[in-house]
Amino acid sequence: MSYENIIVETRGKVGLVTLNRPEALNALNKDLIDELSEALSTFDKDEDIGCIVLTGSEKAFAAGADIKAMADNEYVDTYLTDFLANWDDVTRVRKPVIAAVAGFALGGGCELAMMCDFIIAADSARFGQPEIKLGVMPGAGGTQRLTRFVGKSKAMELCLTGRMMDAEEAERSGLVSRIVKAEDLVEDAVATAGKIAEFSMPIVMMTKESVNRSYEVSLSEGVRFERRLFQSMFATTDQKEGMKAFIEKRKPAFKNR
Ligand code: CAA
Repeated sequence: MSYENIIVETRGKVGLVTLNRPEALNALNKDLIDELSEALSTFDKDEDIGCIVLTGSEKAFAAGADIKAMADNEYVDTYLTDFLANWDDVTRVRKPVIAAVAGFALGGGCELAMMCDFIIAADSARFGQPEIKLGVMPGAGGTQRLTRFVGKSKAMELCLTGRMMDAEEAERSGLVSRIVKAEDLVEDAVATAGKIAEFSMPIVMMTKESVNRSYEVSLSEGVRFERRLFQSMFATTDQKEGMKAFIEKRKPAFKNR
């Protein structure tokens, strides 16, 4: 499939998706979201891809949902089409997805980054949920995911005032895993993804599933889920290989089995 709003590349075992609507600071419209879902799902099914990086431009990861495209929406249409419902297709990707964020990640852009498995931020990154200034509120998970990332007080302040936070504040409050220089962002994220892609794919996917489970269930249920998955790993060839390689002081050769 050819894409008009995103650029799709592979770098070794890493799938790289770059949001590409520079004229609108990568504002997210239906076509872009449809293309993104398709590209992510294609990488997810591709046996040669072990990890995915999602990025934008130097100026903007994404400046939110496309305001011009939705300004005239009517309630009944948004309800009938279940507007925004397919945005979280990202969360159904089973391989890890890293958001590499430079510049603005606002509104739906911040929400999209939070749907990824972790966020690496450039020192230029700015995060925020400015929807309140438009007479609406976050609609793609912002009030829920931001609260889980940064806690109620900061999430409430950001959603109610629309103020942006810089990369330092985002790291300090747990929204991003680390900050890198803007010029190194994509290379750094791809290198990180490449490292993940070298590990056993089923083990990586189970690890992702287990961490994500912590969002959905109680601690005791989550720990039980983790323990069962951990036990199941002893049925894999890669567990045997990983531990044997450690004992034999060599690099493991995982077979994804
Ligand atoms: N939708 C549509 N177009 C957008 C856009 C958006 N979210 N953000 C920026 N653009 C467009 C601008 O209209 C402008 O286009 P024109 O040149 O045709 O006028 C172009 O991108 C460049 O933007 P600016 O001139 O505004 O650039 P700037 O550097 O002066 O400001 C900015 C950058 C602070 C990010 C500013 O563009 C801005 O505030 N954007 C809107 C941010 C926002 O409110 N996002 C939330 C959207 S609602 C949402 O996301 C709901 C949800 O939860 C899903």
